Amino acid sequence: MSNVITNTVFLVLALGCLPALAQPRGAVVTSCAACHGEDGIAREADVPHLAGQNEAYMLNQMTNFRNGSRRHPEMRIMARELGPQDIRDIIAYYAALPAR
Ligand code: HEC
Repeated sequence: MSNVITNTVFLVLALGCLPALAQPRGAVVTSCAACHGEDGIAREADVPHLAGQNEAYMLNQMTNFRNGSRRHPEMRIMARELGPQDIRDIIAYYAALPAR
């Protein structure tokens, strides 16, 4: 497990997206921002945008990633590392951002 965390931290650092503590829970949002963008607009073609996405839908997806009913290795790790309150806060943050 510590390997998984180390790899995730390394990935976040490697992607160089750490405007640390710019906002409350900044480190947590930043761990998603490495892939989904701080503004919820993903830079990679295989990563979905989260900005303005339906909040209930995204919460459902996090549950599905966590319990494995929606399969995706990275998202499974991300969904399992965070507590329910962190997930709600982050999803609310992304849902409130303007969609592109
Ligand atoms: C390593 C890159 C990576 C990180 C870090 C990451 N994601 Fe994802 N995320 C993805 C990819 C890729 C998908 C698309 C999965 C698929 O193809 O099924 C995804 C899908 C999602 C979805 C579903 C979107 C949809 O339209 O169905 C949500 C919600 C989500 N991520 C939230 C998060 C949150 C919240 C975090 C931070 C805790 C996070 N992600 C961190 C790569 C990442």
